[in-house]
Amino acid sequence: MVQVKNICCIGAGYVGGPTCAVIAYKCHHIKVTIVDLNTDRIAAWNSHQLPIYEPGLDEVVFERRGKNLFFTTEIEDAVNEADLIFVSVNTPTKKSGMGAGFAADLVYVESATRGIASVAKSSKIVVEKSTVPCRTAESMRTILETNSTGNLRFDILSNPEFLAEGTAIKDLLYPDRVLIGALQTPEGRKAQQALAEVYANWVSTDRIITTNLWSSELSKLAANAFLAQRISSINALSALCEATGADIDEVAYACGRDARIGPKFLKASVGFGGSCFQKDILNLVYLSEQLNLPEVAAYWKQVVDLNEYQKKRFVERIIKTLFHTITNKEIALLGFAFKKDTGDTRESAAITLCKHFIQERATVRIYDPKVADEQIFLDLTEPGIVITRSPYDASRNVDAIVIATEWDEFKELDYTRIYKNMKKPAFIFDGRLILDADKLQKIGFRVHTIGRKENEK
Ligand code: UDX
Ligand code: UDX
Ligand code: ADP
Repeated sequence: MVQVKNICCIGAGYVGGPTCAVIAYKCHHIKVTIVDLNTDRIAAWNSHQLPIYEPGLDEVVFERRGKNLFFTTEIEDAVNEADLIFVSVNTPTKKSGMGAGFAADLVYVESATRGIASVAKSSKIVVEKSTVPCRTAESMRTILETNSTGNLRFDILSNPEFLAEGTAIKDLLYPDRVLIGALQTPEGRKAQQALAEVYANWVSTDRIITTNLWSSELSKLAANAFLAQRISSINALSALCEATGADIDEVAYACGRDARIGPKFLKASVGFGGSCFQKDILNLVYLSEQLNLPEVAAYWKQVVDLNEYQKKRFVERIIKTLFHTITNKEIALLGFAFKKDTGDTRESAAITLCKHFIQERATVRIYDPKVADEQIFLDLTEPGIVITRSPYDASRNVDAIVIATEWDEFKELDYTRIYKNMKKPAFIFDGRLILDADKLQKIGFRVHTIGRKENEK
């Protein structure tokens, strides 16, 4: 049996970085080298200020870095030394050309694969870690086999990552399952087993699922589609709640107590964000269309459409409540990340909200505890935003506060102080259902919460 002793990970991002850091942390006998083209990113991984914020990540990296965990831009050496290579590069949605707006852009996967083929001097197990459309493993195999020199063997595995940002280290240390797909040939199974052995260093074997390649690739898209579908379902119900007087948290609780439904991923919100849900569903939609299954495509597309609707609906509620205009008004936006405990803003609902507010010619005063200023300026190029250093600064003299991310610190603010410094009536719009509406109302706020009628007590 092949025993993996040396791992290279191509792509030092949100997925590759934490995943391979945890492998190094749990497998001291394996040398793990994470490579990236981006020299600034690698420099940050080698510094005290890691390029991504993730609870628990610093401890893991600082303990193993320089021992069996290395970050470098010397891709060729790292590839050559490795017996197993994770391809963990970005796969954004295509912006132009065929499949624009739906299909994944595989340019980075292909160039990383060609890079492996052109430098490899020995046989390798190559693992697709990035979320990719079904059948990518097949393309990778063809590229490797037709571009390498000598009599080298490449076994391709699919090992999708299920970690969620903000809880990545916990998810990696205690995964619900690890999924490894391989071609069901003797060699494919051997490679599958070799990777399973790596995870078996800390994951019990009953949680390590082995399947064929296509099942593994499709399961990743399906899992994200299911999760996002739950959020769109609860968000669709939140609109009904606002119209009827039912309370979305009560509905979610009552439904979630049915063991067949379960309580998780039923929190209504201003809309889901993050790098995965929308991208993966659009991938699934594209795949379905390619396979001539338009009904299936339309079914999943609706999950994304509902998410857009939810964001728009929230903006409309805000404008309507602020006497039908927000032109020249000031709005404090608390939270810019797509969820708490991350500095990541990819597909964040906050971006859409801001764009709408700016279009209406309001000024948005943004506060987020973790998102870097430069990131906000990259996401919003329009004039009309002010980045502030605290929620108190953000809300000074504004007409309304909008909660866009469920950061814990927003539950504990001194709202009496905030109220005093706001224009009156002082409106607060809770897009995450984290505030105590009754308490705020006693202070004097007019409180609007997703999935509830205006607090009228
Ligand atoms: C349902 C609800 O389960 C129950 O809580 C409610 O009170 C009434 O409606 P019922 O219609 O009796 O109960 O049966 P259920 O077991 O839910 O099955 C409904 C249909 O779904 C059946 O045709 C069943 O075969 C089908 N089904 C169920 C599937 O196709 N796949 C499944 O995984 C589960
Ligand atoms: C997701 C999947 O959870 C993970 O398994 C996969 O590997 C990558 O995609 P991530 O995007 O990091 O992870 O975060 P997640 O916790 O799933 O949240 C995604 C979005 O849904 C966030 O904007 C979050 O705020 C929102 N959400 C989540 C809700 O609005 N309600 C919920 O009940 C749960
Ligand atoms: P994810 O969330 O999927 O981890 P990121 O964008 O955070 O995505 O990370 C992907 C990383 O992959 C980026 O840092 C990018 O520079 C790197 N990358 C892309 N293509 C290559 C390549 N051919 N070789 C090395 N690194 C690459």
